[in-house]
Amino acid sequence: MVKVITYGTYDLLHHGHIRLLERAKALGDYLIVGVTADDFDISRGKINVQQPLIERIEAVRQTGLADEIIVEEYEGQKIDDIRRYEVDIFTVGSDWTGKFDYLREYCQVIYLPRTEGISSSGIRHDRRETSMGLVGSSAYLNKVARESAYVNGIRLSGLCTDDVSQLAEEVRSLPLVTDDYQRLLDVSDAVFIYSQPQLHFAQIQAALTRGKHVFCESPLALSERECRQLYALAQEKGCILAESLRTAYSMAYHRLQLLVKSGRIGDVVSVDATCTSLLDASKLTEKQRANLWNTISEWGPTAMLPVFQILGTQYADIQIVSHIVRERPLYDTFTKISFLYPHAVASIKVGSGVKSEGELVVSGTRGYIYVPAPWWKMDYFEVRYENPAENKRCFYQLDGEGIRYALANFLKMIQTGKPSLYISQDVSAAICGVMEAYGRGEHLVRI
Ligand code: CTP
Repeated sequence: MVKVITYGTYDLLHHGHIRLLERAKALGDYLIVGVTADDFDISRGKINVQQPLIERIEAVRQTGLADEIIVEEYEGQKIDDIRRYEVDIFTVGSDWTGKFDYLREYCQVIYLPRTEGISSSGIRHDRRETSMGLVGSSAYLNKVARESAYVNGIRLSGLCTDDVSQLAEEVRSLPLVTDDYQRLLDVSDAVFIYSQPQLHFAQIQAALTRGKHVFCESPLALSERECRQLYALAQEKGCILAESLRTAYSMAYHRLQLLVKSGRIGDVVSVDATCTSLLDASKLTEKQRANLWNTISEWGPTAMLPVFQILGTQYADIQIVSHIVRERPLYDTFTKISFLYPHAVASIKVGSGVKSEGELVVSGTRGYIYVPAPWWKMDYFEVRYENPAENKRCFYQLDGEGIRYALANFLKMIQTGKPSLYISQDVSAAICGVMEAYGRGEHLVRI
């Protein structure tokens, strides 16, 4: 019996896949099809796959062409599979020509001509093209524009700004550049907002009112009530409203949370997060200085994310210590917040005029998790125990500083109509609640 094996993602199964499987089957008597696991796809840069593994397997099964279906989970697995299943022929489409010649040591390798004119990426692109407008003047939008190119199905429609000085040529040359927000909304299905925090509420509200989806940098609003009001409006309008905090969408951070929740470090007693970026304000123009976010808005939401996601949003007490250098508009260069829970404590330290080690430590009764600086761009963490021999190092893929995963997830939310699994409304609202307390000077000690 001649055994043939082939591999693929088989997202949104199309006739190119079926033709490949038919020809693969015809090469022998028994066809094994390897379907890539979701995580494996992400680790090799395929971040837009639309169907989960189980659906992709089912689609391959329904072709009736596979005698056996297996899951491909790791780099190098093909060699293991070929040996394990005693495969005679490995085959894939000609888009891979040469890439699998190293398998010739184990079996015959055949590249079959790829069917022209169709691909999963093409179908994804045509199905879900969402026009997204950018809002704001921050250089961060340059990264968003660059990263959006990796997400099939997002097309940038334009930019609404009052200052282009920090924006790259590719952003300045978008089809529409305007200071009229309504004009941007006219040409967009969705907006990505990175404007000053005090503008967020009105900008989100205006977009949702017109039925546009919103991806906004945290905080979404400057009070808990306003935040909840925005989520209610999104629901009423059938639109997605999500926070674009990139850390929340990274695989390492997501896995860290799962590990903590599954009890690997025991009961969590403390979460300590530090985020700083030293800023040289003397290099900025007056307008850029006026547009600066204060430190608590810039870094506070990121630092609060693990606190609220691990310990919950129902803290019993809060104390804020802040170094405020300007009152109107309020500007702090350093802020430390302590959150007291019934059985745990958390602290965040954020600075733009103070430098510190940007690490995250989650301490538990059995061990702790350590994420080195800059933890918010996490691709690695360590689980540490009293006995170092038990320590575990965990590595994950992080491309494009995590921004592309955030964008891909936003698109998925729009497409499925389901709100974010990554940041709950309660967490968003709690972040806004802290902003509100800060703005009012509640629980605040000035240094
Ligand atoms: N394939 C093919 N002809 C096509 C598309 C895919 O022969 N038009 C083959 C690939 O060469 C591979 C298998 O089908 O052997 C599974 O490919 P997969 O990567 O799942 O499909 P693509 O459509 O190429 O997906 P993407 O656009 O995401 O890369």
